[in-house]
Amino acid sequence: MFNEGMLKEGALAGQTIIVTGGGTGLGKAMGTYFLQLGANLVITSRKIEVLEKAAGEMRQQTGGRVLPIACDVRDYAAIEQVIAAAVAEFGRVNGLLNNAAGNFVSPTERLSANAFSTVIDIVLKGTTNFSLAMGKHWIKEKQAGTFLNITTTYAFTGSGYVVPSATAKAGVLALTRSLAVEWAKYQIRTNAIAPGPFPTKGAWSRLLPGKLAKKLDPVQRIPVGRVGEHQELANLAAYLMSDYSAFVNGEVITIDGGEWLKGAGEFNMMEAVSPKMWDMFALMRKKK
Ligand code: HXC
Ligand code: NAP
Repeated sequence: MFNEGMLKEGALAGQTIIVTGGGTGLGKAMGTYFLQLGANLVITSRKIEVLEKAAGEMRQQTGGRVLPIACDVRDYAAIEQVIAAAVAEFGRVNGLLNNAAGNFVSPTERLSANAFSTVIDIVLKGTTNFSLAMGKHWIKEKQAGTFLNITTTYAFTGSGYVVPSATAKAGVLALTRSLAVEWAKYQIRTNAIAPGPFPTKGAWSRLLPGKLAKKLDPVQRIPVGRVGEHQELANLAAYLMSDYSAFVNGEVITIDGGEWLKGAGEFNMMEAVSPKMWDMFALMRKKK
């Protein structure tokens, strides 16, 4: 069921959506579903060969129109060129999915200043760069638009060992809530999704390298007992991109099977108490 597309056929018909980091992982999954729903797609990232291969696969799978363009989100001028190329190809842009990210695990004290900045530059500055260029364009052209930003659940809580990413994603959340209010007057909506674990090569190879994936199996922390399926995330993203969510603005929707709350709730570790032990506690209480 959760592997099925959820929205009506044609829910994004005629819309053009730019997806940063759209050639791999979650960006590719969300973009493919946008195409299935009738959107035109622009996918960007640094590696044109990856983008072109992904675009070919997406066209074959959906019959949709996909424009792959190389663009480093740290380069504001290159972003302006992506927007111009998208307009030249499709006439206008309706939505931007800020999905590109960089991340790795490391004790913070082992990071160089450049390592810290690299993640901040891709995740936070990349998202602000693209949002600023896109927003200026929409405001100048008097066009409505929709931003969707991909953050993480540790944007709320912080997290050790991914401190540059946590710092940057928290900034993306603040950006989301700020622009949602300021730019609503221009008919620009801004929302975010905070995914929990959704296996991808890009994230798993960097965050759970070597034998860590087995040793620190994320499923152990997830109350629903499984990781996310890409289509589940794509369904949520398509809803937030579509006009069905026209009254949703400034929201961050968590999709993590209850993972972060399990870590947060003071007594959730009581999960480890067996029914037999609960019976014993009840007896002790009655005796008292
Ligand atoms: C410590 C590291 C490092 C590591 C790189 N650096 N990898 N430091 N541990 N594992 C340091 C380098 O030594 C260098 O510092 C600086 O970071 C820049 O490295 P470059 O390789 O030159 O950077 P660049 O080529 O721009 O590549 C960026 C990258 C890379 C972030 C380092 O991993 C990348 O391209 N990632 C893109 C995809 C990605 O990360 N996907 C995962 C997203 S998952 P010095 O000082 O030596 O110059 C996610 C959330 C998941 O975001 C949440 C799961 C629940
Ligand atoms: P991924 O496949 O590694 O995706 C990251 C994408 O960002 C890649 O396509 C990469 O392409 C692009 N990118 C990196 N640096 C860039 C730059 N400087 N300029 C332009 N593009 C750049 O990993 P993923 O798991 O799908 O992650 C997608 C998003 O989901 C990220 O925002 C991530 O933080 C978020 N997320 C993932 C999970 C998860 O469990 N997978 C959980 C929470 C949040 P190039 O290398 O070609 O540039």
